[in-house]
Amino acid sequence: MQVASIVPSSKVLIDRVAGKFDFSAPRIIAEFGPGEGCHTREIVRRMHPESRLLLFELDPELANHLRHYFRDDSRVSVLNTDASNLPVELSKMGIQHCDYVVSGIPFSTMEIGKKRELLKCIHESLKPAPHAAFIIYQVTNELRGHAQLFPRIKSEYCLQNIPPMFVTVFFKQPLLNGNGASHNGNGNGNGNGNGKH
Ligand SMILES: C[S@@+](CC[C@H](N)C(=O)[O-])C[C@H]1O[C@@H](n2cnc3c(N)ncnc32)[C@H](O)[C@@H]1O
Repeated sequence: MQVASIVPSSKVLIDRVAGKFDFSAPRIIAEFGPGEGCHTREIVRRMHPESRLLLFELDPELANHLRHYFRDDSRVSVLNTDASNLPVELSKMGIQHCDYVVSGIPFSTMEIGKKRELLKCIHESLKPAPHAAFIIYQVTNELRGHAQLFPRIKSEYCLQNIPPMFVTVFFKQPLLNGNGASHNGNGNGNGNGNGKH
């Protein structure tokens, strides 16, 4: 239930997920459920030298492995704690908001109240900026149905993974066009980002 995966993410999926970030500036990034760190290594490889990466991994052995692997990179902090502690951990570090939250934890098996609470805490922790987003890779795309807080959502399907996965980006802010009008990215024009997929 905690790991919910048979093999680590494929190189194609890792590239697709890493491609969703704007790494051109220093970013504060939180990763939920890095596991043995296959997405983490790619994020670290691409991120700006002044970025910070906070890893939330529940499994103590995996957390220790990550701590050892990234011991020489002061940009990376490993937290052997539940993802829901994101606001507490940010405030302990004197950080107000993060630019991105990327998640590999099994949201689909999470109890509905916990799922909605976690989405709310992610939304509140993200910076009010057009690039700021929650990025998730999941077998189902059911989380879209619970993410009304996010005004713009974009999904794609990555077949080259075992099993195939949806990569979905939930943006904190709507995309402003020339008239200042919002666009939810789903073409349904109602701004709630919950168009069928
Ligand atoms: C499917 S594995 C993902 C591993 C890796 N990111 C990948 O793509 O191959 C899920 C990971 O999330 C961790 N995890 C599950 N629930 C969590 C939670 N609430 N907070 C932090 N980590 C969690 C598990 O211990 C596991 O390492």
